[in-house]
Amino acid sequence: MNHSPELITPYGGQLVNLLVDPNQNEKLKEYASKLPSFQLTERQICDLEMLAIGAFSPLRGFMGEADFHSVVNTMRLKNGTLFPMPITLGFDPHPELQIGQEIALRDRKYNLLAVLRIEEIYGWDHNEVAQKVFGTTDLRHPIVTEMYRWGKLNIAGELRVLQLPVHHDFRELRHTPAETRQKLADLGQSNVVAFQTRNPLHRAHEELTKRAAESVNGTLLLHPVVGLTKPGDIDHFTRVRSYKELVANHYDPQRVLLSLLPLAMRMGGPREALWHAIIRRNYGANHFIVGRDHAGPGNDSKGQPFYGPYDAQDLVAQYASEIGVQMVPFKHMVYLPDEDRYEEIDNVPEKARIAAISGTQVRDEYLRTGKALPEWFTRPEVAKILAETFPPRHKQGLCLWFTGLSGAGKSTIAEVLVNLLFEHGRIPTVLDGDVIRTHLSKGLGFSQEDRDINIRRIGYVASEIVKHGGTVICAAISPYRATRNDVRNMIGQENYVEVFVNTPIEVCEARDVKGLYAKARRGELKGFTGIDDPYEAPEYAEINLTTHDTHPEANAQKIVQYLLTEGFVR
Ligand code: ADX
Ligand code: MG
Repeated sequence: MNHSPELITPYGGQLVNLLVDPNQNEKLKEYASKLPSFQLTERQICDLEMLAIGAFSPLRGFMGEADFHSVVNTMRLKNGTLFPMPITLGFDPHPELQIGQEIALRDRKYNLLAVLRIEEIYGWDHNEVAQKVFGTTDLRHPIVTEMYRWGKLNIAGELRVLQLPVHHDFRELRHTPAETRQKLADLGQSNVVAFQTRNPLHRAHEELTKRAAESVNGTLLLHPVVGLTKPGDIDHFTRVRSYKELVANHYDPQRVLLSLLPLAMRMGGPREALWHAIIRRNYGANHFIVGRDHAGPGNDSKGQPFYGPYDAQDLVAQYASEIGVQMVPFKHMVYLPDEDRYEEIDNVPEKARIAAISGTQVRDEYLRTGKALPEWFTRPEVAKILAETFPPRHKQGLCLWFTGLSGAGKSTIAEVLVNLLFEHGRIPTVLDGDVIRTHLSKGLGFSQEDRDINIRRIGYVASEIVKHGGTVICAAISPYRATRNDVRNMIGQENYVEVFVNTPIEVCEARDVKGLYAKARRGELKGFTGIDDPYEAPEYAEINLTTHDTHPEANAQKIVQYLLTEGFVR
């Protein structure tokens, strides 16, 4: 093992820094305020930050056409430097996008980030990038699908960054490559092994990172991604809280640096692994851990993995000396219950029992159900944080959304249900359409637009209640299917239960509790649902109730039965 400190100098020269000199900043800001503005996507913002701080060194900006094609086809920039991932800035055609034009790049809140002088505008082929870079056009690959929404034209040119994307969270753990190198140098070891992750760290990862640091006799750079990871991953707040606990309690403080990486992952398997290694070289690592299925996007539409489990290792190994980063490979790390230790699958003694819990199992069999993760698998400090973020269903927020005609019996059933929910330990709030119209939606009428606004207001309040773990019963006619679906998405499919109170109009009209049907028939009320305004019955409500043959008590009990079966109450 080579301990030469030169190994942690940048490959190919100085680290890039695209931030303009603070002295010129004010002048450039004023100039930029008059330029046409383009807002960046979350991914583009991550890429911009990585470029600006030199994490993508030697790149000095988004790729121009020659580099782009060269990278797609050969993994190298046109000057021959290895850089396996195309980094492009795509926009749809726009009159202000012209060669020679300068544009202001802004974040989602319109903060000014950078000025770009357009030197190149070029088209690109979705299928070519999908096939050549990611090895597939299968839409199950998250980036292949996302790329359809990327702009049709790539823009490149001189990039001057005025302000880095703002982060308010975990500021003490965010470091530029230059700052990271300094911190690593302060720790005093010439060898640095970096670990990439987008997941909570379990005992298997602790074991392999410790073995890696020991094998190179160096510092561990724990380098989790907090930019964009795979859709559906555990959020970075939860993950970082757990990393902090783990590092504080289970690693040697002299031999570890926890730092957050604002990278937007592509889930590109082998090419992505090689890219990760180059990035970590920029941050000062000279070794990089590649385990099983590195940056793997899961299975394709035929249920087959997109990449072989060790393809990433093969590719990184092939280029290790060229990029100045040695690969530290790990085979699948498994637990040996009889010996109470972890071992790589290839070194497991014959006939030994092995145990493992997959990421999917962690979520579906443990976190979702409230079952504690075993201590052999996850440190209790980490398990506790994960459990807080994923409360079992009976502790999660819940929205019961009643829909049905006026007079169908929504409010009556809701009233019974409120008491039954209290009985089962939930504390419900009722958002009744009629009541809401006396304050939150006062002044709104019954046009399609006003009805939509009313429903969306109820949906918004309900979503806030659910987000904070509360229980809400919404009882409003909510006649339009599309609006109900929007509300379902606002609240989140998993915690939304639609209850269709299916009372035929004749029955509602015969009851006419509020005398509204009579008024509508006389023409005194316009746009009354069921009379001269449509009611679109749900096609896939979670619960369907009838009221002509079932008492409100019995209907409320039906709902409770459903909630018991689904685990929403105990
Ligand atoms: S990744 O998408 O960032 O690669 P993840 O956080 O799951 O996902 O993995 C981080 C690194 O740990 C990768 O190098 C991966 O190959 C490795 N790894 C994860 N789990 C295991 C395991 N059980 N055994 C060996 N290596 C693993
Ligand atoms: Mg993985």
